[in-house]
Amino acid sequence: KKIALVTGGYTAESDVSFKSAEFVHQQLDKSQYEVYQITIAADSWFHVGDNGVRYPVNRDNFTLPLDGHTIWFDLAFIMLHGSPGEDGRLQGYLDMVGVPYTSCDALTSALTMNKAYTKAVLADIPDLHLAKSVLLFDGQRDEAIDLIQRELSLPYFVKPNAGGSSIGMSKVKVEEELPQAIEKAFNAENTGKQVIVEEFVAGREFSVGVYRRPDGLFVLPASEVITEREFFDFEAKYVPGLTKEVTPAELTEKQRARIERLVKAIYTRLNCKGMVRIDFFLESNTDRFYFIEINTIPGQTEQSFIPQQVRAAGMTETAFYGELIEQSLA
Ligand code: DAL
Ligand code: MG
Repeated sequence: KKIALVTGGYTAESDVSFKSAEFVHQQLDKSQYEVYQITIAADSWFHVGDNGVRYPVNRDNFTLPLDGHTIWFDLAFIMLHGSPGEDGRLQGYLDMVGVPYTSCDALTSALTMNKAYTKAVLADIPDLHLAKSVLLFDGQRDEAIDLIQRELSLPYFVKPNAGGSSIGMSKVKVEEELPQAIEKAFNAENTGKQVIVEEFVAGREFSVGVYRRPDGLFVLPASEVITEREFFDFEAKYVPGLTKEVTPAELTEKQRARIERLVKAIYTRLNCKGMVRIDFFLESNTDRFYFIEINTIPGQTEQSFIPQQVRAAGMTETAFYGELIEQSLA
C-alpha cells in the first residue's frame, strides 16, 4: 500500500512534526507499506526524492507526479502537529479528494484544537473536572486583566487556545507577569488569536494514549510527568533528561480504573478516531482528575509518550502503526 506520511505545517510545532514523521517512517513496516514523506509548507506541498529533487504534490487530487509516473495514495498518515494537520483543514481537504487518513475527522479535529470549546463539550462527563478558565479574544486585550482577576485566582496558566507543545505558554505566579504572558500567547504564530487563561491545579500530571481496535477502545498505560521546572514546557518536553517520565505510571487500582473510564468517555464524546492522547492533572488534596487537553495528532518523537506507552503495553511501534493504518482503511 502506498502511504503519504504528511508532515511540516504552519506553526512553531513543525520542528516536532518532522521528528515525529522521522520516527514513524523508521518504524513503518516497509515490506507492507511504500512510504512517501510529503511536506506541507506555507508555499508548497512536496516530496523530496532519493535523488534530492523536490516533487510537488498535485493538489487537485492529492497525487504525486514523479518522473514518468504518478503515485495515487491509499492513505495519508498525518504526522503534522498544529495547523493545518491537527485542526481539521487537512482532514477536510482529504475528505474532499477521497483519500482516507489516520486521525480524527475534520469536525473533531477543529473542535479539539480549540481548548476552551473542547472543555464546553466535555463539561458534564461524570467525575471529570475542569480547571476554571477565561477565554480571551483578540479584541479583548484591554479588559483582559480585569476579567481574569475577577474570575480566577493565582497562579494561572496562560496559553494560545489553539496551540500545542507549550509554545507561547506561561505560568503566571504574580499579577505583574500577566500582561506579558497574554501578549506572548497572542503572538504564537497561526494559533487562532484566542488565549485561554486557566487556574493552576496543584498535583500530579498524567498523559494517556488511546486508540480504536476492531474489538473496542484500547487505553494504553498512563505516563506520569515529573519535572523540576515550573511546568512541562517545550524544553522539558523535547530536551532529553530534563523531565522524568514514568510509564506505566504509579496509580492505585481505583485511580487507574477511573482514568481509563474518563479517557474512554472523552474519546467517545468527541467522536475520535485513531490514536489520541489525553492529558490530566490529579489534584493532590482531592484526588480529582482535571482534564488539561486532548491531542489528536500526539507526538511520536523518541521523547514522546505514545511510543513509551506502546512499549509498556508489550507491543512494538511497528505493529502499533500497522494497526492504525489497517483500522483507518477498514
Ligand atoms: N502537541 C504535541 C506534539 C503533543 O501533544 O505530543
Ligand atoms: Mg498538546
